[in-house]
Amino acid sequence: DKGGWSSFMAKEVSEEPEAVANTLRGRIRDGVVSIPELDGLDDLFAGINRIIVIACGTAAYAGMVGKYALEQWARVPVDVELAHEFRYRDPVIGSDTLVVSISQSGETMDTLMAVKYAREAGAKTVSICNTQGATIPRESDAIVYTHAGPEVAVASTKAFVAQITALYLLALHVGGVRGTLTPTEIAQHVLEIEAVPEKIQRILDRSQEHIEQFAGWMADTRSVLFLGRHVGYPIALEGALKLKEISYIHAEGFAAGELKHGPIALIEPGQPVFVIVPSPRESPVLHSKVVSNIQEIRARGARVIAVAEEGDAAVLPFADEVLHIPVAAPLVEPLLAVVPLHIFAMGLATAKGLDVDQPRNLAKSVTVE
Ligand code: M6R
Repeated sequence: DKGGWSSFMAKEVSEEPEAVANTLRGRIRDGVVSIPELDGLDDLFAGINRIIVIACGTAAYAGMVGKYALEQWARVPVDVELAHEFRYRDPVIGSDTLVVSISQSGETMDTLMAVKYAREAGAKTVSICNTQGATIPRESDAIVYTHAGPEVAVASTKAFVAQITALYLLALHVGGVRGTLTPTEIAQHVLEIEAVPEKIQRILDRSQEHIEQFAGWMADTRSVLFLGRHVGYPIALEGALKLKEISYIHAEGFAAGELKHGPIALIEPGQPVFVIVPSPRESPVLHSKVVSNIQEIRARGARVIAVAEEGDAAVLPFADEVLHIPVAAPLVEPLLAVVPLHIFAMGLATAKGLDVDQPRNLAKSVTVE
């Protein structure tokens, strides 16, 4: 039931605030992260030397965002691997490796086979999944469910923000167990994450209409590029995937620092480029790097669409369009920056008259390899 929305995707984007809130619910008590599903695993978390995150598509981009939190907060080295690449390359894994799988459906065959492979190789597996009782969680040692609610549209939206939320909870939990975070630090991060639902809601209330209108003006565009650094990089990849998936426009995401190693050759006058801009206050070094990337592409005629923090005056002179997001801590920012990109992809596909819920050639869950 679309509940009065024009599409399931529109409904599911509108549910992004709840998806985060519901994934947090019951897992935070007085500033302390407590995930009952992970009870009894403290020895495991204390003893691991490495985490491998396996997933496909959007879930893998959530994993890339989670890597920053797991490394920064729990101080465990993390590799993020596409499930189908992981299992066919004889990876080095053992009992000191924790494999974290991420899957909305819990039925993705590539991810399932990778989890089985990891278990057989002696690794412990935790699954982050949105579907109760699905196959992947049943094959795992522990499950952290995302509570985004059923996701029907092929393009994953609310599950993505819920996956990042679950990974952040996991990172705080493991950081607490390993003693790499103090209770005060955990409480501070928890406060920042708890503010996310309201901040996403603010983007939807204040900007959705404008972004959809803007997307409509771009309906004839043939190619869109997305740039980001740090946690903005996986968000750039997610923005590009969503756009190609439902609007059939060529789209590519790049790490902004990679520009001069090749992709800048693509920039010609009029080329639209979305740039995820880090917070000037929270991440001043990254911010100035990204602003210079914007200047470089602008000098070559790119049409710059900046996703930037409210009040960021430094991007204004160089951007053709600014999509604002509320002020947030650096690791919280991706949960906000992705929202305008989801709205944009949906707006553009709608303007092209396409079926946003059921794009050609794709299935909601990919149960074949
Ligand atoms: O159900 P899963 O999370 O395992 O699905 C993984 C990908 O197939 C999925 O995220 C896909 O990339 C989406 N259609 C992207 O919007």
